[in-house]
Amino acid sequence: MARLDNKVAFITGVARGQGRAHAVRLAREGADIVGIDLAATLPGVPYDSATMADLAETAALVEAEGRKAFLEQADVRDLDALKRVVDGGVERFGGLDVVVANAGICIPATWDESTPEMFKDTMDINVTGVWNTVMATAPHLVTRGGGSIVMISSLAGMKMQPFMVHYTTSKHAVTGMARAFAAELGQHSIRVNSVHPGAVGTPMGSGTMVDRITETAASYPRLAPMGTPMLQQWLAEPEEVAAVVAFLASDESKFMTAEHLSIDGGAHAF
Ligand SMILES: NC(=O)c1ccc[n+]([C@@H]2O[C@H](COP(=O)([O-])OP(=O)(O)OC[C@H]3O[C@@H](n4cnc5c(N)ncnc54)[C@H](O)[C@@H]3O)[C@@H](O)[C@H]2O)c1
Repeated sequence: MARLDNKVAFITGVARGQGRAHAVRLAREGADIVGIDLAATLPGVPYDSATMADLAETAALVEAEGRKAFLEQADVRDLDALKRVVDGGVERFGGLDVVVANAGICIPATWDESTPEMFKDTMDINVTGVWNTVMATAPHLVTRGGGSIVMISSLAGMKMQPFMVHYTTSKHAVTGMARAFAAELGQHSIRVNSVHPGAVGTPMGSGTMVDRITETAASYPRLAPMGTPMLQQWLAEPEEVAAVVAFLASDESKFMTAEHLSIDGGAHAF
């Protein structure tokens, strides 16, 4: 028997990268997958955006694990759209047990080249989007009598990430949000934890992302090594983050809530 047999999981940002890895891993553990992705042009980012073809590929990968997938195009900034997809998934698959609030954007910019749009877009997606995700899903977990919510924060929400004040602000907000929801949802046996990856090898590093990070770091090179891992490995594979998410989703972490787990090779303490 797999750890998530007969469970249903909802994942945001499921088209590619870590979201896709979570979908495949949770399906392998026995869960049917409901998910959404913008699958369209992301605001302000220097990397490639996900597509509808990416979303379809994730659905195919979930089905290849022998589980069902109900993946739709939606924006985490749109609470009504999230509710429509989540309610539709619950109707199809009979309930909801696991939520992974994963969708996010990252725009490198030094403090003095940052714009109000960058700050607003980052907060709207990375913070309000996570809040919307919980608001659309938690009532179903209450009905089910319990569940596990995992929020994907970052090293930027545990220590910080230089040259993106807006991103660091948003990911610290997610850390606090996990703790605050954990407190109130505890009475419904719903656990809420956050996960804090350091650098992960995903399409977030495509396009001119690496160049932008290098350029911003040149403005104050002293800060550039802040994400240095203690281990020799520099980047996490998305599957390494998914393994921790699967643990938090499962009953193996049954007495863990309001916890903040780093997957960064020790960078948060370096
Ligand atoms: N890649 C890293 O180095 C890294 C490190 C730490 C934390 N994170 C966080 O991990 C999460 C996943 O990132 P990733 O590396 O897989 O990046 P990614 O860009 O490959 O995937 C993010 C997905 O979220 C989707 N998305 C973005 N905005 C959305 C919106 N408004 N509505 C719906 N979907 C939206 C994108 O279309 C994309 O498919 C993010 O929250 C990110 O901030 C990433």
